[in-house]
Amino acid sequence: MASPFTDPAFYADRYPTYTALRTSSPILQVSLDGGTSTSAVVTGYDEARKAFTAPLSKDAGAYFADRPSGRSLHPAIARTMLTVDPPEHTRLRRLVTKAFTPARVDGLRPYIRALAEQLVGNWESGTELDLVEELAGPLPVTVICQLLGVPTTDRDSIRAWSTDLFATGDHQRIDAASHALAGYMAGLIEAKRAHPDRSLLSDLISVHDQDEDRLSEDELLSLAVLLLVAGHETTTAAIGNSVLALLQHPAELEHLRTSPHCIADAVDELLRYDSPVSIATWRWAPEDVELAEATVPAGSPVFVCPGAANRDPAKFPDPDRLDLGRANAGSHLAFGHGIHRCLGAPLASAEVEIVLSVLLAHSPGLRLAVPADQLVWRQSRLVRGLVSLPVHV
Ligand code: HEM
Repeated sequence: MASPFTDPAFYADRYPTYTALRTSSPILQVSLDGGTSTSAVVTGYDEARKAFTAPLSKDAGAYFADRPSGRSLHPAIARTMLTVDPPEHTRLRRLVTKAFTPARVDGLRPYIRALAEQLVGNWESGTELDLVEELAGPLPVTVICQLLGVPTTDRDSIRAWSTDLFATGDHQRIDAASHALAGYMAGLIEAKRAHPDRSLLSDLISVHDQDEDRLSEDELLSLAVLLLVAGHETTTAAIGNSVLALLQHPAELEHLRTSPHCIADAVDELLRYDSPVSIATWRWAPEDVELAEATVPAGSPVFVCPGAANRDPAKFPDPDRLDLGRANAGSHLAFGHGIHRCLGAPLASAEVEIVLSVLLAHSPGLRLAVPADQLVWRQSRLVRGLVSLPVHV
């Protein structure tokens, strides 16, 4: 069976495919890999919002119990907050939310600004460089390492393992990286236990609720690894996609330059326009599930597509237009919705906001160094992001 997701053209520009799928039906059974088995693919906005709160399961363990996958992913990555259902999920989310507070994100803002200024401050006027390599890549991994308390000297290894984890299709590479990263994190947890500091990891080690419930050793490990992975590639993609969208829309860029107080709304519209998590993580229907007009049959995997839902004209008029003044941009589903809604959304938004404001101040003449149709996009269903973004400074 032909699959739109195996066509390299899909990764260069997903939006015509999303429009075709949504027009055919906002929930459609589609083959992901060209094989005979199909998954429900959700491309309509209302349907996606419903799917995010429907009684679908994220418990991969239950689904794959009688379907051997032949994989050897480290258990800390195979089983995380993103792959469990209530009540286990509720408990984990409650404990991590106690440590990962809005005050902690606010406290990181000066660090993020100083880091962005340092990275951009190194650029020489009149040169050409890759903005992913020089800014969008290093900034989020450095911020997430700072948050967790990962020593500066280990950040390059973290970046390499984390990149490997997103190597769609290359199971051997993904599984090996999962073991390397989990092994490293287990050592770091041991070190923080012996010498606690003010990092989020130290706080997660000691966090407890009224009933003295704490995170177990396995839970701590999988949370630490999840935060690292979830907070890195997604934010790299968000920065790259946002800068590209602005460079392609000079009038909108000028609007932002003259109205810097609009930056938070602008970031919402940028996340809507080219959503970094284009197809959300894996779900499945443990029984027949009614979703809008459709029934997802028991046993079917379900892929909700924020990238498609955020371009649904029924919700966002003229959806393919970047409009930094769009009134309802904040209703986007770029961070998901429901109980699994992105835990790092405030941090991610702060990073994109700060990076854009630093770029506006330091690099007024920034422009694309290659035609947009020559840009190379990652071949990942999950993350829509650039491999590189060559710019003239
Ligand atoms: C612009 C950057 C980001 C985007 C677009 C993004 C997007 C998302 C989305 C769509 C989900 C829900 C997935 C689903 O339901 O299938 C999610 C979950 C999650 N994100 Fe993010 N994310 C970003 C940055 C971050 C950062 C910086 C962190 C950590 C510091 C983070 C941590 C998480 C965690 C832990 C979850 C799982 C929440 C749960 O299962 O309850 N994300 N993210």
